[in-house]
Amino acid sequence: MTAQVAVIGTGYVGLTTGAYLAHLGHRVVCADVLAEKVEALGRGEVPFFETGLEEMVREGIDGNRLNFVMGAAAAVPDAEFVFLCLPTPQAQDGSADLSYIEAVAADIGPHLIPDAVVINKSTVPVGTTTRVERLLARDDVHVVSNPEFLREGTALHDCLHPDRIVIGSDTHEAAMRVASLFEHLESPLIVTNPASAEAIKYASNAFLATKVSFINAVAQLCELFGADVRDVALGMGYDKRIGFEFLRPGPGFGGSCFPKDARALVRMAEDVGYDFDVLRSVIETNQRQFQWVTEKIERAVGGSIDGQTIAVWGLTFKARTDDLRESPSLHVIEHLRSRGAKVRAFDPMVRHEIEGVEVCGDAYAACQDAAVLVVLTEWDDFRWLDFDKVADVMASRVVVDARNLLDPTGLRRRGFQYDGIGRI
Ligand code: UGA
Repeated sequence: MTAQVAVIGTGYVGLTTGAYLAHLGHRVVCADVLAEKVEALGRGEVPFFETGLEEMVREGIDGNRLNFVMGAAAAVPDAEFVFLCLPTPQAQDGSADLSYIEAVAADIGPHLIPDAVVINKSTVPVGTTTRVERLLARDDVHVVSNPEFLREGTALHDCLHPDRIVIGSDTHEAAMRVASLFEHLESPLIVTNPASAEAIKYASNAFLATKVSFINAVAQLCELFGADVRDVALGMGYDKRIGFEFLRPGPGFGGSCFPKDARALVRMAEDVGYDFDVLRSVIETNQRQFQWVTEKIERAVGGSIDGQTIAVWGLTFKARTDDLRESPSLHVIEHLRSRGAKVRAFDPMVRHEIEGVEVCGDAYAACQDAAVLVVLTEWDDFRWLDFDKVADVMASRVVVDARNLLDPTGLRRRGFQYDGIGRI
């Protein structure tokens, strides 16, 4: 089946969705409100880094299956399916701000063709599908929830090989029409009502964030027990009920989703009279992790870091992305700076200035005269650097590896004091 599809919003989720739907053979029109962005996308230029995405966008443009237009209303007149992929930033009170979605719904309502299906892909509070239905003010169109589970860095792979496709709809017919868009993908299909689909998205992200906070807490315990968290996670992971994934301890979770979605779910629970104390504690554990890593750095240099130069490797919230949003690295750097440290940093994906940080052109330059080297993002490249050169330029040979990325044996052989997370 080839369908006529509109995608409103060309952020991470929108652009990836548009590109892979065109790749699956559909005719896709993507809309955004930024003229410069629309023009650049029309030339096949992707404004952020995501493996394979630029190539797939160009493939769609060259095959005449992918177009970019200004404004939502211009994208929808022929569309059988309209995907809403709009930002839902955090409002002052921790809830999700729906103003973009509401504005677009009101805007496109009069332009939709009869029987069109509007599909919410943005992470939206439970109940939003019904709200969008009201705003469209049309009896002859359907609104469906189809949450996205892609990860930055592996977005296209996750879209083309999803663990599951979730469709929340009040009518079976609309759900089946949306399912037909993905008929080439082999994946379990869960068809449910809109509220359940919306809840699946939040519960999934909150559960994964819980796993990360849990293993970070276990890592702290391991240090006190004299245990090694990597062996503990391995031993746990073989239990199929637990699994290996999301049990890597680190400086805390970050990114544009986990922190925001966890807070929004706590808030949504409050609104319906439930105290989600488990999730509140996951968020607090994450905040404490930034502090715990900072204290570890202080201990590594033997006390105060006031006036000391600290080398940081890794600024992005995880490897294989250029995204700095809610990056644990930036949170730790904030703590370091507030305690008087001078921070020199290197990240393979970050070249621009960051307030209060000297961003260096390579990993060695960041280590110049540093009292300690701290690894905060798990970029694979860091493993293969010349640590004799690192040792030569540093003021003292001290490493705090907050991602358990480097090889402690090799470093200790070179005279480094090495401290990882949750290991002896
Ligand atoms: C996350 C979810 O994994 C996706 O399924 C979801 O679609 C997406 O949010 C979203 O809601 O849009 P993403 O934000 O790209 O994807 O990042 P993750 O790979 O989940 O990592 C989140 C954070 O947890 C990162 O800071 C990462 O370093 C940290 N993490 C992850 C750990 O510290 N340890 C782990 O074992 C795994």
